[in-house]
Amino acid sequence: MSEIHVKPEGMLSLQTIAMPADTNWSGDVFGGWIVSQMDLAGAIHAERFSKGRCATISINQMTFLVPVKVGDVISCYTKLLKVGNTSIQMEIEVWDSHDSSRPPVRVTEGVFTFVAVDVKGNKRQIPADVKEKFLASQSN
Ligand SMILES: CC(C)(COP(=O)(O)OP(=O)(O)OC[C@H]1O[C@@H](n2cnc3c(N)ncnc32)[C@H](O)[C@@H]1OP(=O)(O)O)[C@@H](O)C(=O)NCCC(=O)NCCS
Repeated sequence: MSEIHVKPEGMLSLQTIAMPADTNWSGDVFGGWIVSQMDLAGAIHAERFSKGRCATISINQMTFLVPVKVGDVISCYTKLLKVGNTSIQMEIEVWDSHDSSRPPVRVTEGVFTFVAVDVKGNKRQIPADVKEKFLASQSN
């Protein structure tokens, strides 16, 4: 968690602005709001990748490195780590670009796992073609 990342890794899946309603009494943004943005970003990537609905099954340990303030633009970057029969494991990084006077800073990262589900919410297989494409990209 403490290693220095010079730039974000993965695909930009979601970008948004922290608003006053997202803060605690001291003006910092709630950690839960940030986790929820990560969950949305991961779901967008997982659903595009698996060509259908996905549900979050797990979120691993997370550490918040710097506070986010109202007006900050946060960017969620998602990177596939593992594709199983029905599950997709993804690393999600959040970066804060406060203003153009300084480079973006990494706020947090976490590993989220999503399961592909059908319209009834039952797990479904990840389509073979996208899984093969992912495995091929890993072996390059
Ligand atoms: C998603 C759901 C349909 C999966 O059904 P399930 O019968 O529990 O599924 P399984 O135990 O067979 O696991 C499915 C996959 O998830 C993986 N998985 C299960 N528990 C996991 C965990 N704690 N962490 C990471 N992966 C996990 C399994 O390894 C399996 O992967 P694979 O098929 O790629 O090998 C079901 O758990 C569910 O509906 N959960 C609630 C989801 C939800 O509502 N999320 C939003 C939060 S409110």
